[in-house]
Amino acid sequence: MGTDLHELLRSLRVWDVELPSFDPASAPAEPLPLFTEWFAEAVAAGQSEPHTMSLATADEDGLPDVRIVMLHGADADGWAFASHVTSRKGRQLAARPYAALGFYWPAQGRQIRLRGPVEVAPAEEGQADLHARSTGALAAALVGGQSEVLGSVEELGRASDEAWDRARREPDAPAPTWTLYRLRPEEVEFFQGDARRRHVRLVYRRTEPSPEGGGWRKELLWP
Ligand SMILES: Cc1cc2nc3c(=O)[nH]c(=O)nc-3n(C[C@H](O)[C@H](O)[C@H](O)COP(=O)(O)O)c2cc1C
Repeated sequence: MGTDLHELLRSLRVWDVELPSFDPASAPAEPLPLFTEWFAEAVAAGQSEPHTMSLATADEDGLPDVRIVMLHGADADGWAFASHVTSRKGRQLAARPYAALGFYWPAQGRQIRLRGPVEVAPAEEGQADLHARSTGALAAALVGGQSEVLGSVEELGRASDEAWDRARREPDAPAPTWTLYRLRPEEVEFFQGDARRRHVRLVYRRTEPSPEGGGWRKELLWP
């Protein structure tokens, strides 16, 4: 007997847990401190994998694409993530260096989305970031070939075994295509879900596009 997808869907709920309240009037002037506060609260609330996020890019034709990546950091320079420059997303970012990020933390009914230009960090910085991570992260980066057609599962097994051996022997092994990217947001939206569907949406928009920073304008949005 097959699963009744629609019945299952109807049985599921969102915003069915006790949700925190969010007073946008008390929000800071810039988005980074609020992101950091919400991130820490997500960790404290036991949200699983709060450091994973959707990364949306567009290809040369402007067609959208999305996948999950890990957040490597966030500071005045932007939100950092890493991948292979030769991967599908790497090629898309080379063609259109602009992306969106999305976080969803259901433990608290919170969503954060960001949009902005993406820059490639200097290669040494990308490699240092990789070498400060786990052996598994280095092994994964050393395997390479990301987004290319794989001939067989055995082929991946052999490449992965070799990559793990090398990562253990040579913790500073270079992974030449592995690249650190930074998204410098022009817009950051904080969404606090509410059981009565009076969700709070607070958006920060950068008022000046200069690389020196500049201020932020805050606005509420209808949910
Ligand atoms: C939880 C999770 C974390 C991931 N983190 C990364 C990451 O940090 N970098 C990365 O390149 N791929 C990561 N991936 C794999 C990507 O989702 C994706 O499959 C891969 O990067 C290829 O994407 P592309 O073909 O669009 O380039 C992660 C996947 C999951 C499910």
